[in-house]
Amino acid sequence: MDLTTRQHRELVYHRDHATDCRKKYRPPDMAVITSDKRRWWNGYWTMYTLLRRYPSHGATALVVGCGQGDDSLLLTRMGYRVTAFDLSPDMIELAREISQKNGLTIDYQIMTAENPNLPNQHFDLILVRDILHHVEISKALKALTRMAKPGALVMINENYTHSMVQKVRNSWLVRNILYPRLVSFIYKKEKPYLTPDEAKLNEKELDECKSILNIKEIHYFNMFVTRIIPDNHVFLACLDRLLLMTLKPLGHWLSGRFILFGRTKSSA
Ligand SMILES: C[S@@+](CC[C@H](N)C(=O)[O-])C[C@H]1O[C@@H](n2cnc3c(N)ncnc32)[C@H](O)[C@@H]1O
Repeated sequence: MDLTTRQHRELVYHRDHATDCRKKYRPPDMAVITSDKRRWWNGYWTMYTLLRRYPSHGATALVVGCGQGDDSLLLTRMGYRVTAFDLSPDMIELAREISQKNGLTIDYQIMTAENPNLPNQHFDLILVRDILHHVEISKALKALTRMAKPGALVMINENYTHSMVQKVRNSWLVRNILYPRLVSFIYKKEKPYLTPDEAKLNEKELDECKSILNIKEIHYFNMFVTRIIPDNHVFLACLDRLLLMTLKPLGHWLSGRFILFGRTKSSA
């Protein structure tokens, strides 16, 4: 596999990260696909709330940049026939071990989001979670459009920061004074999971994602949560989400995560 310098750095970073993930592995919470009680304030839960509205049994799903395979495992349990890939052989090795232990058949492959070697117009669902901020977005979206069946479902759940907010984040005060304090408050003693090249999506990149979809819905999360408040304070997380639901246009400017869900254009 020919890799760009950026992709190579991602691969090297995820060698150690895979070791960490193996040590700390906890299976994903099955309630996200089985329970009727929903955590409406949480992006991850909302993603599955939306996915559960559609028939899944026997449909084909692709998970892009699957990491240790939590989403592949959940989609397989929902009845999808899942193909999943990641650039990192170490993450794929871990994902394969986990699926074997669970007795699940998931087609795991090692490839890049920019240049995946998978058939045209094949998938009924493509799931893209926390991966676009690691890749060349235009190339990955083009590949995704090629692999999706016309009218396939596409779920994109990504880190986001409007460029105006990013300017504030890049200011001297935030970088040198506030950010180091916030990191120790939010992550405690944990090492933040940040690769050298990752960059949260901005409003232009969000528009690029929207442009490949018809019938789209967008949901915004995390105005303060994960930025200045850890994500384990349920009351504050509810308040944060309520603010974004009530003052909807604010999400475009102030949120830290979006979920974009829609269908590919049938002419794709
Ligand atoms: C933040 S993790 C997300 C994993 C998974 N989607 C999840 O949400 O649990 C990012 C993953 O992207 C993979 N990755 C980075 N660059 C990639 C690329 N160009 N193509 C495919 N995967 C890539 C990394 O190896 C890593 O497993």
